Amino acid sequence: MKYIIAIIKPHRLDPTRDALAEIGINGLTVSEVQGYGRQRGQKEIYRGAEYEVHFLPKIKLEIAVDSGVTEQVIEILQRTAHTGQIGDGKIFVLDLGEVVRIRTGETGTAAL
Ligand SMILES: Nc1ncnc2c1ncn2[C@@H]1O[C@H](COP(=O)(O)OP(=O)(O)OP(=O)(O)O)[C@@H](O)[C@H]1O
Ligand SMILES: [Mg+2]
Repeated sequence: MKYIIAIIKPHRLDPTRDALAEIGINGLTVSEVQGYGRQRGQKEIYRGAEYEVHFLPKIKLEIAVDSGVTEQVIEILQRTAHTGQIGDGKIFVLDLGEVVRIRTGETGTAAL
């Protein structure tokens, strides 16, 4: 199993969620976060306004998946979150050791 963390632009959340739903992703976590990349301290456009700040609002998606769909999820994230402008974000892929569904005690891919 893999744990995929994607930092994306807030306005790309809805199309990304829709595309992930289409391939049957059963669960994910979304957080509003702040961050910066390599343009730290430089201007970046956010919803039409220019902010000269270090931290910019982003969305963090966290998705635990069966290893077999990892490449498909990465491809969807890369395609749907992409605008071609700076600040489009990053995808981090971590090995996931265990998952437990608290209600039933199921573990592993059965708990995804
Ligand atoms: N090395 C990193 N570690 C953790 N989070 C990061 C890292 N790089 C970027 N992020 C997160 O991703 C967000 C978007 O980063 P961003 O797309 O600006 O990266 P970048 O390397 O500057 O690429 P680009 O040149 O396309 O802007 C940041 O605001 C931050 O939340
Ligand atoms: Mg950047």
